[in-house]
Amino acid sequence: KRETTLAMIKPDAIEHIGKILNAIYGSGFLIKRMKMCHLSLTEAQQFYAVHQARPFFRTLTEFMSSGRVFAMELVTENAIAKWRKLIGPTNSDTARAEDPDSLRANFGTDNTMNACHGSDAPETAKQEVSFFFDRADVGRCAQLR
Ligand code: CMP
Repeated sequence: KRETTLAMIKPDAIEHIGKILNAIYGSGFLIKRMKMCHLSLTEAQQFYAVHQARPFFRTLTEFMSSGRVFAMELVTENAIAKWRKLIGPTNSDTARAEDPDSLRANFGTDNTMNACHGSDAPETAKQEVSFFFDRADVGRCAQLR
């Protein structure tokens, strides 16, 4: 069954956008919509609101608003699991140890600067796609700061 996920290239990996797009197309994903933007701190806090009680929330949101990100609505069979498999484990060092061909192993740095994001479930995918592509206010982040 065709499924949708929200994929994002994070500020630390934005320079590798070409290689990451090649990997995405090489794995058979359709990129339905895409947008490059520079999130404000408030927008990053909204996107990661589910993590607001976590000790890493401040580091994460400051990092995510530190430079450009590239968001994509990816569509294919089993897109959520397939994209999460392609990016690898959350911690880039774990990725290098356990899944050296993954995007985080190749382009990530650590547990916060980990190159890519992927939705974890259909409901979150819906919310995250909507955050980037259906909201007029976040649409304004297409103006690069
Ligand atoms: P992401 O897939 O974007 O979802 C939440 C993000 O929080 C995650 O990738 C990491 O960038 C970050 N994160 C998760 N766990 C930790 C942690 N233990 N320490 C620091 N950052 C983390």
